[in-house]
Amino acid sequence: DKGNYRHFMEKEIYDQPEAISDTLSHYINFLDNRVVEVSGDIAFANVQSLAISACGTAYLAGLIGKYWFERYARLPVEIDVASEFRYREIPLSPQAAALFISQSGETADTLACLRYCKEHGLKTGAVVNTRESTIARESDAVFPIFAGPEIGVASTKAFTCQLAVLAALAVAAGRARGAVTEKEEQILVERLAEMPRVMAQVLDSIQPKIERLSRELAKCRAVLYLGRGTSFPLAMEGALKLKETSYIHAQGYAAGELKHGPIALVDENMPVIVIAPHDRFFDKTVSNMQEVAARGGRIILITDEKGAAALKLDTMHTIVLPNVHEIIAPMIFSLPVQLLAYHTAVFVGTDVDQPRNLAKSVTVE
Ligand code: F6R
Repeated sequence: DKGNYRHFMEKEIYDQPEAISDTLSHYINFLDNRVVEVSGDIAFANVQSLAISACGTAYLAGLIGKYWFERYARLPVEIDVASEFRYREIPLSPQAAALFISQSGETADTLACLRYCKEHGLKTGAVVNTRESTIARESDAVFPIFAGPEIGVASTKAFTCQLAVLAALAVAAGRARGAVTEKEEQILVERLAEMPRVMAQVLDSIQPKIERLSRELAKCRAVLYLGRGTSFPLAMEGALKLKETSYIHAQGYAAGELKHGPIALVDENMPVIVIAPHDRFFDKTVSNMQEVAARGGRIILITDEKGAAALKLDTMHTIVLPNVHEIIAPMIFSLPVQLLAYHTAVFVGTDVDQPRNLAKSVTVE
C-alpha cells in the first residue's frame, strides 16, 4: 500500500527513519550503548580478512562497509561484484570469512559466490532482507536488515538498512578484535542511535529544494557524481539510482580520479553533483570542485553546515545537511541522493517503480 505517496519509491524513501530504527534495535543495546553480539558463526576476532560480494546497490553498500571494517576493525576486505568475484579465481584462505549482501536473498551471482566460498571452507554470513531466502538459508550466519518489504525496483531503504547493519557489524568486529575501545564503541553506537531522528529531520526539510533542482536535472543528458572516502561509493550509488529511474546517463567517480579522464566531459552543460560532508577529505574534494568550476561546470554540492560555512566557492546549488558523525554520514547523505533520483524521474515521466528492462530480483546470471 502506497498510503499517501505517489510511488513506492517515494514511500520507501520516507520509510527510512522507521526502518533504520527497527534495524538498529536488533543490533544495538540502547541501555549501555554497545553493539549486540550477533556474529554467530563468524568469529571476527580470529578471521584474517573478509571477502564481500554482492550486486548493484548491495555491492555499493558493501563498498562503504569495506571502509568501516578496515577503519574500525582493522580487518582487510576484498570486495567485488558477485559476477566477477565468482570467476576471478581469488586465492581464498579458510581463515577469511565471506559476507554476501542481498536484499532479495535470491540473486543468482551472489548465491553462486556464497556456494563458491563455502566450497573453499570459508565461514559465510548473509546480510539480507528476506530471512526465508536461499542465500540466508545457505549461510552460516544471517544478519537480517529488517527494512520491511521493498516494492520499488530501485533499492532505497534496503540500501541504508544494509549500511546500518554493516556499520554495527564493523563496530562489533572492532570490539572483538580489540581495535575499538569500549569508550569508542559507545560513541559510535550513540551516533548510530541518532540516525532515525536526523533522517526524519532531513526528510522534513530538503524536499522543496530537491524538487527545484530535479526539474533542472530532468533536462540534462548526463550527470557526473563525485565523492571521496565513503562518499565515493555513494557517488556511484547516486549515479546508479539516477540512471535506472530517469534513464539519464550518470557516472559516479572518486573525486581524485577527475583529472585522470572525466574532467574532459566538464563544460557549462554538465551538472556535477559533489557529495562532500565536512570530513577529513573535505579540502581535497573542494580542490577537485575548483577544477570543475574553472571549466564552467555546474556544481551541485551536497554538504553539511560546517562544509557550507567553510566553502569559498560559488556553486549552482548547495544542499546543506546537519553536521553528523562520519559513521552515519553515508546514510544521511543517501537521502538527498535518493530524492534527487526520484524527483528527476518523476519530471522525466518514467515508470518510477518499474523502470524499463529491470526486475526486482535477478535470479539468472
Ligand atoms: C538498484 C538495485 C539493484 C539491486 C541488485 C541486487 O537500485 O536495486 O542494483 O541492488 O540487483 O539485488 P539484491 O540485493 O536483491 O541481491
